Parts: sequence; structure tokens; C-alpha cells
Amino acid sequence: MPDQNDTFYVTTPIYYVNDKPHLGHVYTTMVADVVARYHRLRGDDTFFLTGVDEHAAKVSDKAAEHDLSPQQWADRNAQAFRDVFEKLEMTHDDFVRTSSEQHKAKVTEYIAALLKSGDVYEGEYEGWYDAGQEEYVPENKAKETDYNSPVNGKPLVRKKEKNYFFKLSAYVPALLAHFEAHPTFVQPEARKNEIVNRIKEAQDVPISRTGTSGWGIPVPGDEAQTIYVWIDALFNYLTYVDTPDRRKYWQAGAVHFIAKDILWFHAAIWPGLLMALNKCDGYDWVNLPKQVYSHSYWVSDTGEKMSKSLGNFLDPAAIDNYVNEFGLDALRYFLATHGPLGTTDSAFSPDLFAKVYNADLANTFGNSCSRVTNMIGKYCEGKAPTPMLQDATSFNSDSSEHLGFSFVNSDYAGIIHHRLKNITSLPNRYSEAFEHLYLFKCSVAARQVVVEIDSLIEETKPFTLAKDESKLPEVGTILYNCIEALRIASVLLWPFIPDACEAFWGRIGCDYAAQLKSGAGRLDEWTRWGQLKPGTPIEKGEPLFPRYQG
Ligand code: MSP
Repeated sequence: MPDQNDTFYVTTPIYYVNDKPHLGHVYTTMVADVVARYHRLRGDDTFFLTGVDEHAAKVSDKAAEHDLSPQQWADRNAQAFRDVFEKLEMTHDDFVRTSSEQHKAKVTEYIAALLKSGDVYEGEYEGWYDAGQEEYVPENKAKETDYNSPVNGKPLVRKKEKNYFFKLSAYVPALLAHFEAHPTFVQPEARKNEIVNRIKEAQDVPISRTGTSGWGIPVPGDEAQTIYVWIDALFNYLTYVDTPDRRKYWQAGAVHFIAKDILWFHAAIWPGLLMALNKCDGYDWVNLPKQVYSHSYWVSDTGEKMSKSLGNFLDPAAIDNYVNEFGLDALRYFLATHGPLGTTDSAFSPDLFAKVYNADLANTFGNSCSRVTNMIGKYCEGKAPTPMLQDATSFNSDSSEHLGFSFVNSDYAGIIHHRLKNITSLPNRYSEAFEHLYLFKCSVAARQVVVEIDSLIEETKPFTLAKDESKLPEVGTILYNCIEALRIASVLLWPFIPDACEAFWGRIGCDYAAQLKSGAGRLDEWTRWGQLKPGTPIEKGEPLFPRYQG
């Protein structure tokens, strides 16, 4: 497992601004946000980038339909993306706009270098063009779908262009060697195999277009041509961190979250371009990303991809409804844990949403926080009780040896011991799952802490014990363990449900939120047993996740 205080760089695709954002876009940015927060929790120097892709023909077409300039249309929709991400409390460190001067200047610089390198040449291209995806579809793939778009089913267009080409074919051996040497470069595994097979037959790719009526970045030295929107877009990952104080993020190795529709660009063309750029003067610092993680789709009930062109997506208003009804944390939690992160698509089902909310949030973390803080209010004067342990702070996960209960004769020592042993093994399980981006498993490990506490309460029944005053020290011990375990659960759950966890921290006197803000996350320390000081005032507060009655 990596050491604490690594440097970590995570990105999302930059989204087309021909239209407003929808659930698919929110999803990828949400997943990246959860992962970025995990790294901040570890104390890693983290940079998280999302944003918008503006120079697409479908953006200028849409603008024309509305009698606006492409820039005006892009401005309007870029703002809609910013707004939705802000509303959803995404913690990106910067927001890409490909029409920004910074981006345009850097892309021009990179293309000028590539033009000099010999890896870019002028040629002619004829092929099947998918206008919705802004990409050419290879002949064999086009044939499979009867010359319709594999994504939106619309007819492909036969197109012939004079363009600049990138010699991707020359990089096939190097790309295959990279995949061989870095087995997790593309994840999940099944997607990697698809791509490796396609790379073996890779042809050179056009990197410029003609006739875009000036919407885009001109090819340096040949203003009649515009840099192909996909090439312009891929470079965003580099242009926004190509500054003296941000280059360290690029060099740490980017983790690119994308969906399966754009894997070819990210796993073949992008690393090929970077290899070529690396050979140019002044770019030897340019390395390849660490990983391209390609998730599947959110689909509608009928199994179709949710998309703008199909018009079957959850738009910002529908997303708002979920947030208003269940809270932002609930939406985050559901998307991150029940989304199409692996190789199968997920249907967005309102019933499942409500079920997961009640089972995982209301009945688990929410209920346990209420129950334990209530009992502490009732039996322990609203303060974290003093456990009857010889040395609570020496307790750690590897061994039960140092449990050192001074009340070994108590009926409950064995039960507590057993539960604590389970709980203290969970942070490691959680971190391991995060390293593999198994977000569902991470959430299970975090929730398991709460399940253990619930079992401990059922097994020891502190509310019954409390009726006998002589048992109050045992009640206090049980409840100390419960609140301490909930503190640990809240740390682990923070990337998923930050608002609830921060509210809970406020009630138990933890200043983690402020520390996280200043970049001083300490996952290791905060999940170590025994951090909560006996005597700390514990507030009851409102239920964190009120049960949804439907
Ligand atoms: N602009 C390009 C990406 C350039 S990145 C250098 C693009 N934009 S897009 O607006 O079409 O967004 C595609 C991305 O949005 C997908 O890769 C995925 O991250 C997200 N999704 C869009 N629809 C989705 C679903 N139905 N389900 C899951 N994710 C979806 O392609």
C-alpha cells in the first residue's frame, strides 16, 4: 500500500457543452470526488480536475440553432456544469474550459512541438464519421452496426478530409509494451483486453479538421485547419497542471475516470501522443498516466444508455429532487456504491434508491448515531464515558493481547473483545478496497463498523443493564466502545457522506473537518482505537438520516 502523503492526481472527462449536464456526468465527477476525498483523508497532496469540452461541432451547431455564438452557448452551459457541481459539493481544485487562454496556449505549444517531431504529417482521410461522438468509426465496427452509430444509433456519415495525422501506428510496440509492464494501466481488466486487441491494429489518427468555421484552436502555422476537438480535449489533463507548482501532480501519474465510450481515446491515442510529446525538446518530464479507469453506463429502465441525445437522462432538476427528498449525502452514497463502476451497466431505479437509503444510511449509521448518543445522554451525563480498560489507547488491530480489560470477570468482556477485534481490522480492509477502487467494498467495510456496534448493543443490552446502578461502569464501557467505533466509522464514511460525518464530528468534538480543509487529513491516526477522550461532551442532535417512509 502506498505511504501516506503521496501526491495524487485524479481527473474526469471534460463534458461537451452542447447541452446541460445530466446524471451520467454527475456520476463520473462524483466517483472522482469520492476518490479525491479518500486521498485527502490519507493526507495525500491531492489534485482533482473536472471541466468542460467546448470546441465540438455539436456545440457550434447548437449555438447556431439558438442564434448565439458558440462561445456564448458554451459560456451558458459551462456555467450549468459549474452550478451542478457546486451544488453537489464537488471538491475539484480547478475547472477546465478548453476555450480558456491557458488551455489554448498550451495546446498550441504541444501541437507545434509535435509538428516538428516528425510524428505528425499531412495526409488525407476517408472514413465513417459518428457526428454525435465526434469520432471516426473503423470499417469493421461500422459494418457491425450497419453503418449506424454504436452509441446513439444515428447513421454514420462518409467523410473525406485533408488533415494532419499523428503516427499512432509507430507507437503500437511501445503501447503494447506499456500495457505489459503496467498490468493495471487500464481497468477493469475486461476492458483492457478489448483495447489491447484494438491497439495491435491501430492506424494513424487525424488530429486536425477543416471547415469548423473558426470554432476551435487553429493548427499552428496552418490557420485553415483546426485542432481536432478530441486532441484538444485530451490535452486538458496536461494543460491545467503544466505550471511550475502543479507539474508534480502530472508526474505522480494521473488517474483518469471515464466511461467505456471514450476508452480508445484515453488508452491508445492519449498515451501515444504523450509518448510522442515526451520525445520533443523540453518535454522529457511528460510521463504517462498511472491509470485509465473505464466504468460502464447508467441506463434507463429499458436498458438504454442515459444520454442527452436519447433524452432519457436525469437532468439537474431531477437530481435536485433526489437531493431535496433524501439529502445530498444519500445521492452521493447511492451513486458511488450502486453505480456502474465495473463492467456491467446499472439501471437507475428509484425503488432501489429508497431501499439503499433506508438500509445503509437510515437504519445503520444514522440510527446507530442516534441510539448511542441518546444512551450517552441518558446514562453517562452526555459525556464520553470512561471505559474500564487498563489502557484504552494501547488497543490496536493486530492482536487482542493488549486489550487489557480490568473487568475480565465481567460477562461482557469477551463480547466486547470480539467486536472490537472485528472493528479494528476494518480500516485496513477499507483502504485496500480503495486502492483497487472497489467503492462498494469500501462502503461495506465502513458500514461493517456500525453493524458490529449494533451487534454489541444487542448482545450486551446497556439499556437493561443501566437499570442496575452497580452496572453503570459496564454500561459506560460498552457505550465508550460504541461511540469510539462510531467515530471511526464516520472517518471511513466521510468520502461517501461528508455532510453527515461532519455534522457528527461536531457533536463528538472532533475537528477533522477543519484539518481536512487545511490539507492535514490523517486517516491512520483518526482510525486508531482510543482517540476519543473520556469526558468529551457528546451532543444528541437531529437524526442524520431520517427513515424514508415512501
Ligand atoms: N468531451 C468528451 C470527453 C473528452 S475527455 C478528454 C465527451 N463528453 S461527454 O459529454 O459525452 O461525456 C462523456 C462522459 O460522461 C462519459 O465518459 C462518462 O464519464 C459520462 N457519462 C455520460 N453518460 C453516461 C451514462 N449514461 N452513464 C455513465 N456515465 C456517463 O465524451
